Amino acid sequence: MRVAVVGVGHLGSAHARIWNEIPDADLVGVVDIDGDRAREIADLHGCIAFSDTSKIINQVDAVSIVTPTPFHLETARPFLEAGIAVLVEKPLAATLEEADQICELADNSGSVLQVGHIERFNPLIRSAIGIIDQPLFIECDRIHPFTLRSTEISVVHDLMIHDIDIALHLIDDDLAAVDAHGCAVLSPTEDLAHARLSFCKGATAFVKTSRVALNRSRKIRIFGHRQYVSLDLVHREGFRVSLDETYDPARFLDPLGRVQAPEGVEDFLSQHLDKEPLTFDEEEPLRAELDSFLEAARGSCDPAVTGSQGRRAMEAASQVIESLRGRGQALEKA
Ligand SMILES: NC(=O)c1ccc[n+]([C@@H]2O[C@H](COP(=O)([O-])OP(=O)(O)OC[C@H]3O[C@@H](n4cnc5c(N)ncnc54)[C@H](O)[C@@H]3O)[C@@H](O)[C@H]2O)c1
Repeated sequence: MRVAVVGVGHLGSAHARIWNEIPDADLVGVVDIDGDRAREIADLHGCIAFSDTSKIINQVDAVSIVTPTPFHLETARPFLEAGIAVLVEKPLAATLEEADQICELADNSGSVLQVGHIERFNPLIRSAIGIIDQPLFIECDRIHPFTLRSTEISVVHDLMIHDIDIALHLIDDDLAAVDAHGCAVLSPTEDLAHARLSFCKGATAFVKTSRVALNRSRKIRIFGHRQYVSLDLVHREGFRVSLDETYDPARFLDPLGRVQAPEGVEDFLSQHLDKEPLTFDEEEPLRAELDSFLEAARGSCDPAVTGSQGRRAMEAASQVIESLRGRGQALEKA
């Protein structure tokens, strides 16, 4: 498959590196409006630098769109119109209307469209998905120091959307309500946001995101029936805790309704809870994502993250923004 990367800044350069490592992909070229940057990355990988997408359109079968989000529609459009397979980085677009246009362009031409929700390919998250099939409760913390990247979009679309997508992917249900708080600190848009996503059948996801923290932390806890998994994505470790099948709190209550454990809390917990580390492979998530996109582009499978899933994550992100801005306006008036 002949491939290209459009936008070779921070993340696009990683796309170029990995495309170059995939034996079944031929990195034909990279495109960037910054000609020096395009040449620098093209030289690194022995491919051609282009400053304009029109020059590469007839030379590729698949393309990564890694331009800033406000340019996703404009840069993806010519490829989608030409029926070329397109991987658009997350968030799918800057607005829901633009996301709809991207999906419509792909539908009209039959192009394969995948959205770059890379956490779906994180081996730790993948191992957890296989364990808890019907989560009741999800907690996600994504705390990041300030960088100058993506400040043209809210932290909700920049970082929180990763966890929104995971929650929507894991909880097989419609959203019933979204309640959020947040504020801007260093950017023109929100840098901090906390959201609660409530689903129709009762499951809930709490998502906490910052891009102005001093430290970095990415943790996810997924609670299911009688078990949960806890993931630390920065330290790359996770464990599963399960409650023994026969445990019933009613068996251990004193007359005041308190849990009693005459053997001591440590023994009580070790008797009823089983904790085991998660095992997972070490594959680089971006490599797994591009491999899967390549398979979809070949027609061997459906895209792992479809345009409509990318659009759904954006819709939930918009509800988060609507909720937190509504609260902000109420505060300003008060
Ligand atoms: N999946 C993830 O975890 C993840 C992580 C970081 C960024 N992203 C997404 O990737 C995209 C790029 O982010 P970044 O941090 O790499 O940005 P960046 O600013 O570092 O790089 C963007 C590059 O695109 C080029 N560019 C801008 N307009 C262009 C155009 N019309 N045609 C060709 N090139 C153009 C710029 O010159 C720049 O080199 C954003 O949508 C962002 O949300 C996703």
